[in-house]
Amino acid sequence: MSVRRLAPPELQPKSFAFSKDNVDWAEKQVGKYPLGREASAIIPLLWRAQQQSGGWLPEAAIRYVADILGMAHIRALEVATFYTMFNLEPVGKFYVQLCGTTPCVLRGADALKQVCRDKIGEPGHITKDGKFSWTEVECLGACVNAPMVQINADYYEDLTAETLEKVLDELAAGKTPKPGPQTDRQMSAPVGGPTTLTDASLYPTATRLR
Ligand code: FES
Repeated sequence: MSVRRLAPPELQPKSFAFSKDNVDWAEKQVGKYPLGREASAIIPLLWRAQQQSGGWLPEAAIRYVADILGMAHIRALEVATFYTMFNLEPVGKFYVQLCGTTPCVLRGADALKQVCRDKIGEPGHITKDGKFSWTEVECLGACVNAPMVQINADYYEDLTAETLEKVLDELAAGKTPKPGPQTDRQMSAPVGGPTTLTDASLYPTATRLR
């Protein structure tokens, strides 16, 4: 596991507080757990703090969440620095997580990495306009549609260097590229269409069911 450190002091905001909506939301989350077990809500609260902070967790946000949950700051820091879903440094508006695990590599992830290097820069670098940053991650559970990337909350799958470039260009232009497979594949069905259970007579019609 790589060493994960907090962002340097010059990047850290002085303070953090949940918005009114997030305070209400956090109270509901904490209320799901028995008295004395409030710390169980730490993952969702850190996640919400990350969302409110633009995709990363400042130290002030980690301490704030610890205070809400009555935890020692060090315990919240342990959680935030352990899970790689928490970004400890600022990220771009579009944060690209590129799967670099074996199935994606066998299907061309290295070419996607090169696209990210060419268009964005080295991992962790944020483009001058603040729009993009990227990192390599382990399997995101979409191996059947390898290679793939996650950009913010969306998966882009069955990528080639060309289609990833197109997705990034569209995002840069303010468009919304269609998530999911970037080929004509239907979700995770075989490439070229279904190969089994293609006989329509196998499926009961509404009439037959009556
Ligand atoms: S190996 Fe890339 S999604 Fe699983």
